Amino acid sequence: MEFFTFAWRALRESDPAKKGALVEQLYTNLRQNALTFDHDAPVEELDEPSYAPLVKVVRPRDVPKRKHFDDPEGQGVLLHAVAHIEYSAIDLALDSAYRFRHMPPEYYMDWVEVAHDEVRHFRMLDDLMGRVGVRYGDYPVHTALFDAGKKTAGDLLERMAVVPRYLEAGGLDANPRIIAKLERYPATPMLEAIVAALKVILNEEVEHVAKGDRWFKRACEERGLSPDVYFDIVERFYPGLESKRLQLNVEARRAAGFACSELKRMGVQKCE
Ligand SMILES: [Fe+2]
Ligand SMILES: [Fe+2]
Repeated sequence: MEFFTFAWRALRESDPAKKGALVEQLYTNLRQNALTFDHDAPVEELDEPSYAPLVKVVRPRDVPKRKHFDDPEGQGVLLHAVAHIEYSAIDLALDSAYRFRHMPPEYYMDWVEVAHDEVRHFRMLDDLMGRVGVRYGDYPVHTALFDAGKKTAGDLLERMAVVPRYLEAGGLDANPRIIAKLERYPATPMLEAIVAALKVILNEEVEHVAKGDRWFKRACEERGLSPDVYFDIVERFYPGLESKRLQLNVEARRAAGFACSELKRMGVQKCE
């Protein structure tokens, strides 16, 4: 079996269970060195997100908001929103593996490993959604992550800057805030299970950002660019937003490869 053909099959699959199974096969085959690489095979494009047949797509402001998490409905909305991020992250990792050719073998291993983690994250949330009677597709979603993939499809440096280093790193900041909100309610088995899942995700996402950080810096080095080009790229894609970050997760970002000089530029006062 050929790697890019296999990755494309997994990427375009809509059904989460089938997509998960394909990612597992891809991961196992890649680890066993059982795949060939045809780097010059054409790169195909998804016109719409793979989840489009399953989920109603709306503008970001029309996605249901999470206000209260102490009842099954609020928990279902929260879990659905996070599950959608994980589903989208499976595709983004697969797309990074599929699209960029003539990279070293470790590059493909990195992004297939990430896709494999994201499948596990999705399944954890899908199980929890089941406990409150929600299925993926019950609530509308936005395409912000798919759009970021489209916008950065032409350049590995932009992809690594925007997807792992800006968006996934933003998840490292957001995740502890959600956990803190959930921990303000009197503990219930369901709330504890959601917090436990979010903690697993937070831990594992550090390595996803770190992988992106390494490939981003390698691309900078090859092109003779300073890693400060990160700020120019993010400003181009998300004008004004990087400087408006609230409460950065300094510890997780440091572990993922951000320099103190960068974090200070994002407004962090104390960093060692
Ligand atoms: Fe994830
Ligand atoms: Fe991730």
